[in-house]
Amino acid sequence: MDYVFPKNFWWGSASSAPQTEGESLRYGKSPTVWDHWFDAQPERFHQGVGPADTSTFYQNWKADIALLKQLNHNSFRTSISWARLIPDGTGEVNPEAVAFYNQVIDELLAQGITPFINLFHFDMPMVMQEKGGWESREVVDAYEHYARTCFSLFGDRVKTWFTFNEPVVPVEGGYLYDFHYPNVVDFRRAASVAYHTVLAHARAVKAWRDSGRDGEIGIILNLTPSYPRSQHPADVKAAHIADLFFNRSFLDPVLRGSYPEDLVALLREYDMLPACQPEDAACIRDGVADLLGVNYYQPRRIKCRDDAVNPASPFMPEWFFSAYEMPGRKMNPYRGWEIYERGIYDILTNLRENYGNPRCYISENGMGVENEQRFEKDGKIDDQYRIEFVREHLKWLHKGISEGSNCLGYHMWTFIDNWSWCNAYKNRYGFVSLDLDTQKRTVKRSGEWFSQTAERNGFDE
Ligand code: BG6
Repeated sequence: MDYVFPKNFWWGSASSAPQTEGESLRYGKSPTVWDHWFDAQPERFHQGVGPADTSTFYQNWKADIALLKQLNHNSFRTSISWARLIPDGTGEVNPEAVAFYNQVIDELLAQGITPFINLFHFDMPMVMQEKGGWESREVVDAYEHYARTCFSLFGDRVKTWFTFNEPVVPVEGGYLYDFHYPNVVDFRRAASVAYHTVLAHARAVKAWRDSGRDGEIGIILNLTPSYPRSQHPADVKAAHIADLFFNRSFLDPVLRGSYPEDLVALLREYDMLPACQPEDAACIRDGVADLLGVNYYQPRRIKCRDDAVNPASPFMPEWFFSAYEMPGRKMNPYRGWEIYERGIYDILTNLRENYGNPRCYISENGMGVENEQRFEKDGKIDDQYRIEFVREHLKWLHKGISEGSNCLGYHMWTFIDNWSWCNAYKNRYGFVSLDLDTQKRTVKRSGEWFSQTAERNGFDE
């Protein structure tokens, strides 16, 4: 075989509770910010489809796990819904939720699929948002309680935990660019949200270690390598600052235990540093992750700004750089994102050279496609574009490993077409297609290809 992966390589896919379970207000679950926002502004959601309309994992978990098995997954990530497990955010656990997650975990294990469990995937319980969400230290305390509860209920069987999925997304979406609730546009508040998320991560890491259980705990970051338009110092500086804001604001504290000095200096200069407590630095220092999940979709192309910033305008990251549409870049014609496979290798190289080569894996990579039904042939989605997408990324990942990167696996976003926040079902990502009317599941060609690749632990050119 041309591309053979290390023994015990993790082959699988990722999903999340709020995007798959459904039953968003039943079986004891309380509303999240998504349920609340959908009630208030359904027009913000593609075709008016909200969080109740998912791929019904709450009912179909057993059949879906059988499909994971058919796809030769040896590992699978999902999350535990805070609002389902602890409906009032801080108090009693919901026995129906415990029974549900126990069944899922036990079935995954029975099928030889290692469960990777993430705690927070954008789904703040509304009751906690009303207390200030991630702007509030009280919510950090409540999250720690939720984490401890999960470790004590499920940590006997779940050995791979993650504190957050893509924590920068709620910051960008909810507090800078208005694509998540609570639709705030305010850098100072965004900085406080980001800071408290890092603190919450560190508190959960400590809680896991306090539990004395064997296993590991990490975090999942979406990394977007920032490439400057040119080697001109102004472009290089602009790309560096974009990297500080969108990657290193999380990467450094969770892998090095501290923030980049130049990020701190920049925020101090503009009086944007979030409020800290004296004990925070030690907590963050001790919260270094055992394992990093890397979600990689696309890079950032950056240039320096052509115009001067109006100092009277609100402070934003874009004061320091602009996005750059690189001529000739390869695009996903069905989603509008750039495809740059080498980015995965550049991320691994950066982690190896600058972050001590941590244990890591690709926790999401994937190709969204609009109106994917048009590619149906003989009753199946013939998604050759997705096979090529995965294969080309895997080649770069393979190169990274052959050069010494400590990359342990590759998970695809995602197993089954699922509900995706405001985009609902606009972009399909699954290895398995979902008929929204009948809930019928059909493995796509890419699912068949992945299944063989996982079974052979590699592929030919
Ligand atoms: C990932 C998120 O970044 O992108 C997922 O972790 C999300 O939760 C996925 O569903 C796809 O996003 P979109 O906007 O293309 O549907």
